[in-house]
Amino acid sequence: MELEIYMKTVEQRLEEHLITEKPYYLASGKEIEIALSAHKNGLPLLLKGPTGCGKTRFMQFLAWKLQRPLITVSCHDDLSTSDLVGRFLIRSGEAVWTDGPLTLAVRAGAICYLDEIVEARKDTTVVIHPLADDRRELPIENWANCSARHPNL
Ligand SMILES: Nc1ncnc2c1ncn2[C@@H]1O[C@H](COP(=O)(O)OP(=O)(O)OP(=O)(O)O)[C@@H](O)[C@H]1O
Ligand SMILES: [Mg+2]
Repeated sequence: MELEIYMKTVEQRLEEHLITEKPYYLASGKEIEIALSAHKNGLPLLLKGPTGCGKTRFMQFLAWKLQRPLITVSCHDDLSTSDLVGRFLIRSGEAVWTDGPLTLAVRAGAICYLDEIVEARKDTTVVIHPLADDRRELPIENWANCSARHPNL
């Protein structure tokens, strides 16, 4: 089962994350305009709010509106940097690099929604700092001097 997932092409992996039907989202303020403006200016978003207030639905709506795949990661205290960035997997006796969800999103210019990011450890979330600040780059430490970035980011 796990092998099947890793053998999917990048296109297949991305296609699964495209939202084709308009999700119902009722704005409560100017959040849509603010988010679209943040996107236009290449700024990351931090959504805060009680459970059920519409954070996930809002991201689904945005992904649909921007026509970008929505890659969601449910964060928890056991999540590692490799779970986000990727790792080498053994396939037919060879070590093959497999992008994690964050790298996949960065390379494709997709939206990466890190759900419950407060639950993740600091040594895991530190990887998003160079991505969220003016560097706009995701360092991939297992590859010497390698980083991923998308021209639209
Ligand atoms: N602004 C909204 N417009 C339309 N539906 C909404 C809105 N806010 C909440 N909902 C409804 O409430 C449900 C729960 O919202 P959602 O899953 O987005 O909450 P959440 O903030 O992500 O909660 P959690 O923190 O538990 O993940 C949605 O499936 C949707 O039916
Ligand atoms: Mg949610």
